[in-house]
Amino acid sequence: MSIAPADRIIVPLDVPSAEEAIALLDRVPEVNFWKVGLELFVSAGPAVLQELKTRDKKIFLDLKFHDIPNTMAGACRAASRYGVDFLTVHAPAAKTALAASQAAAEEGAAAAGVKAPMLLAVTVLTSISTRSLAFELKVPLEMLDYVQQMALMAQDSGIGGCVCSPLEIEGIRQVCDDLILVCPGVRPTWAAKGDQRRVKTPGDAIKAGANYLVIGRPITQAEDPAAAFGRICEEIAAV
Ligand code: C5P
Repeated sequence: MSIAPADRIIVPLDVPSAEEAIALLDRVPEVNFWKVGLELFVSAGPAVLQELKTRDKKIFLDLKFHDIPNTMAGACRAASRYGVDFLTVHAPAAKTALAASQAAAEEGAAAAGVKAPMLLAVTVLTSISTRSLAFELKVPLEMLDYVQQMALMAQDSGIGGCVCSPLEIEGIRQVCDDLILVCPGVRPTWAAKGDQRRVKTPGDAIKAGANYLVIGRPITQAEDPAAAFGRICEEIAAV
């Protein structure tokens, strides 16, 4: 099923309080899909999800669970009851934990009578450098090999998608056809890169095979956020 360009853009609610989140929602009502991360969820709690539901928005709950299988399953079961669309887990929690998370997400959603979220595995945080992977984490693989292994393991565990850098899309697509790929690290040519270093434009990320893009500051900090969002939708629609 094809996804409308506007529904491929997920905007992070990167603010520390419910009041600021509501102000941002009011500022860009055109955005359909919002990401709630750890800071906002820890400070504002599930009420912020309710606010998004009331406004008929799609929700990416980005809590990046990483724990023993029983604990991850419990967290996924509980989070699924909110009726969110995407939910993140860390792939290095390994196969038993990922499979238990997937099963529990389905159970939790069914018990609450809502649609199960798609679980997204974070392969390797993009803040981890190749140097840190080798010398601190002692992973004896090249970064892309490791990312591919994590994506394959997630897919084999029944997980539906991955969060990855746009520069890893082609490598993941070589080994996993079916995963839904959600990419932060996206910058239109006309926006400041900020602290993002290894970026692709929205059009290039979609061309490379991304399904969804997480784009924050180029929209939220624009003088006219609605116009910035519209411009990105047009760029994606033209691919
Ligand atoms: O403002 P910007 O477009 O850089 O926001 C990107 C969003 O995606 C932020 O919420 C950031 O935390 C998140 N993210 C990221 N890189 C990752 C994972 C998540 O930028 N590897």
